Amino acid sequence: MCRTKEFFAFLQLLALTGICCAAPFLNSSAEAEFFGLIHPNATLEVIAESDRNLFAHEAPVWIPGTDDLFFVSNRLDGENKTVSGHSDVPVHIQMAKINLNTRRVENVYPKPEILLPNGAVRISEDEILVCSQGLGAVGGSLVRLNVRTLESTTLLNSFNGEPFNSLNDLVYSSVYRGFFFTDPPYGADQGFRNASRLPPSLYFYSPSKNSVKVLNTEMVKPNGVALSLDSRTLYVSESGYLIDGILVNHSVPRVIYKFDITVGTDGRTDERTDGRTDERTDGRTDGRTDGRTDKRTDGRTDGWTDGRTYGWTDGRTDGRTVGRTDGLPEVTKRSVFADLNANYADGLKLDDRGNVWAGVGDGVNVYAPDGRMLGKIATGSGVTNIAFIPDGLIMLAESKNFQTSQCYRKGI
Ligand SMILES: *[C@@H]1O[C@H](CO)[C@@H](O)[C@H](O)[C@H]1NC(C)=O
Ligand SMILES: *[C@@H]1O[C@H](CO)[C@@H](O)[C@H](O)[C@H]1NC(C)=O
Ligand SMILES: *[C@@H]1O[C@H](CO)[C@@H](O)[C@H](O)[C@H]1NC(C)=O
Ligand SMILES: *[C@@H]1O[C@H](CO)[C@@H](O)[C@H](O)[C@H]1NC(C)=O
Ligand SMILES: *[C@@H]1O[C@H](CO)[C@@H](O)[C@H](O)[C@H]1NC(C)=O
Repeated sequence: MCRTKEFFAFLQLLALTGICCAAPFLNSSAEAEFFGLIHPNATLEVIAESDRNLFAHEAPVWIPGTDDLFFVSNRLDGENKTVSGHSDVPVHIQMAKINLNTRRVENVYPKPEILLPNGAVRISEDEILVCSQGLGAVGGSLVRLNVRTLESTTLLNSFNGEPFNSLNDLVYSSVYRGFFFTDPPYGADQGFRNASRLPPSLYFYSPSKNSVKVLNTEMVKPNGVALSLDSRTLYVSESGYLIDGILVNHSVPRVIYKFDITVGTDGRTDERTDGRTDERTDGRTDGRTDGRTDKRTDGRTDGWTDGRTYGWTDGRTDGRTVGRTDGLPEVTKRSVFADLNANYADGLKLDDRGNVWAGVGDGVNVYAPDGRMLGKIATGSGVTNIAFIPDGLIMLAESKNFQTSQCYRKGI
């Protein structure tokens, strides 16, 4: 079962050949657990390279139907401006895809162009949702991209009328039927966006309710986001420690935070203001499927025809009004999930056992759901984001695009 030696031998070989320079960390008390996640014959293999520095940075999304992996570069400064008239700063981020079968890399040009794309998730067989970081006065946005036709559609580009800063990463929750996403001020910090008009924030967006809600404004640069398998815990990496990759801010903790997720209230009380109590006597608090009409004097029938579709279990027989739930999530109880110590985390993904895999400054750190660090895949360079594919893990390492083939199956 445990093939520690083979795996290390491979990593050491990489180290000897100069590809890998960092020693792999292994929590010896968690060794069996860590190697239980890694296929014994796993290899670390460069599957694509480019002489364009920083060519594999973010948004790794695998499309099962075509076996393509979409990704985007980091800022390729000095190359062509993406859209004229938005900014005088010559910045460019190239979207591309690699076919994992043929390993051919091809640039991708969405129409209309997605301004400085960053994180992305797959939302249907041939659609992904991409975080645009905006450019100049144009704010960040969530953009739907059809990966077949390359047509793009902006779904969301502002909060309370203010443009977002530079949206970074997102994760979909099937429980809440929407997206948790982060908006750090990278655009303003790096000079490609106008000054921030909103604080660095964590948001939730519900397409079906057409609403967006701010969940937290206490992080400096909320970056990667991931959800626990039961949708009760949200993980967010704080990357405020790094300022443009070179300078550092020692007052910002290098951590992955976790939050409890609950269903929020919108603060409104029930619209029943006549003070009467519910005249039902059957004691049930369900959606009233008994066909009777309510004795409410506002003329509305009891099917709660106010257009809301979420659970309404008021059970009110005492005339009190209660908070009406808006069905959108809230995050509470922020705590440190993982302390990165001298490192820092970027993209986060969960495997199907709930372990958290984090792209970090020298590879990928793997954490158990209780926060114990199980081990590291030491690539020897920074890994910005990762994606599980059926027979491995793709790691975007800025200049190199690593794959450990047969690393761990059935990731998400
Ligand atoms: C690993 O590779 C060896 C040698 O090719 C092979 O004999 C073994 O079955 C492989 N292990 C697994 C679990 O696939
Ligand atoms: C920049 O523009 C030139 C001329 O249109 C084109 O040949 C080149 O490929 C472009 N470079 C990038 C990085 O898009
Ligand atoms: C954005 O910044 C540019 C350059 O500083 C400035 O000319 C422009 O007025 C700003 N736009 C907005 C909407 O603030
Ligand atoms: C460093 O982080 C603190 C918040 O902890 C922030 O107030 C400050 O502006 C940051 N400094 C720089 C140079 O970004
Ligand atoms: C290593 O694992 C042990 C036991 O599982 C745990 O108590 C400890 O906190 C772990 N160390 C780190 C650095 O995560």
